[in-house]
Amino acid sequence: MSDRFAGKVVLIIGAATGIGKAAALAFAREGAKLVLSAYRTPPDVVDEINAAGGVASAVRLDVGDEESVKNAVATVVERHGRLDVAFNNAGSLPVTKPLADFTAEEFEHTLRVDLKGAFLAMKYEIQQMLLNGGGSIINTGSVVSVVADPGMAPYVAAKHGVLGLTRGAAWEYAEQGIRINVLAPGLVETPMTARWLADPDFRALVHSYNAVHRHSQPEEIAGMVLYLASDEASFTTGGVFLVDGGQTAH
Ligand SMILES: NC(=O)c1ccc[n+]([C@@H]2O[C@H](COP(=O)([O-])OP(=O)(O)OC[C@H]3O[C@@H](n4cnc5c(N)ncnc54)[C@H](O)[C@@H]3O)[C@@H](O)[C@H]2O)c1
Repeated sequence: MSDRFAGKVVLIIGAATGIGKAAALAFAREGAKLVLSAYRTPPDVVDEINAAGGVASAVRLDVGDEESVKNAVATVVERHGRLDVAFNNAGSLPVTKPLADFTAEEFEHTLRVDLKGAFLAMKYEIQQMLLNGGGSIINTGSVVSVVADPGMAPYVAAKHGVLGLTRGAAWEYAEQGIRINVLAPGLVETPMTARWLADPDFRALVHSYNAVHRHSQPEEIAGMVLYLASDEASFTTGGVFLVDGGQTAH
């Protein structure tokens, strides 16, 4: 356990499983006070962190619903008095098919969770961070924030949009001490991707995409989140931080 985040209040949206859970455990090990958002049920990770002597609590949240997001940020401030770090990590499982086969409802669902959610979260987090005198926001994009994988055009559009929102807002709030960056993972083994990775042909295809010829584990992504949240990253804002085993290097 280190004290890199001692006294820092961290909100993670989408903390129940996968990358969000790995980041929550890593922040807890480094002394952060955590509020972890759950969509359906309180994340088990809250109990795990408290049992180990950390500080974590849950808040219910639907990231596509404005009142819900506003209340979640207000709850963080009621509990801890401030907000130093926000990790906006909610995402929906991309449906995979060619663009012309998508329904408008499927498109809207992806945009609601992955793009509108990031907008709403940033809106209320930034309002609070301006009162605090600064903070760090990390938005989860993807390699598909900068390139495209076939078969998921709405998700690609949403994740490109997350980068656009991040870049725009980074310029607007840098002088007030708020840094805003995009985390851009390649393929990570999480509940979102478990079904795909169970297919040997899909695994082989994905492993041929990158330079290390494997997919990653959530713990390999969490370190970048903590770096971006920390004072060591004081010269970063508006950036896109790829953790992709070299996928976008060629
Ligand atoms: N797994 C990958 O290969 C991969 C690669 C690049 C980017 N990502 C992105 O990483 C993020 C985390 O995904 P993961 O792979 O850890 O999967 P995951 O399914 O474990 O996590 C997704 C999280 O989003 C939350 N969520 C979904 N809809 C929500 C809503 N309406 N309101 C609030 N929370 C909601 C879920 O509860 C869950 O905690 C997502 O944004 C995803 O798009 C994942």
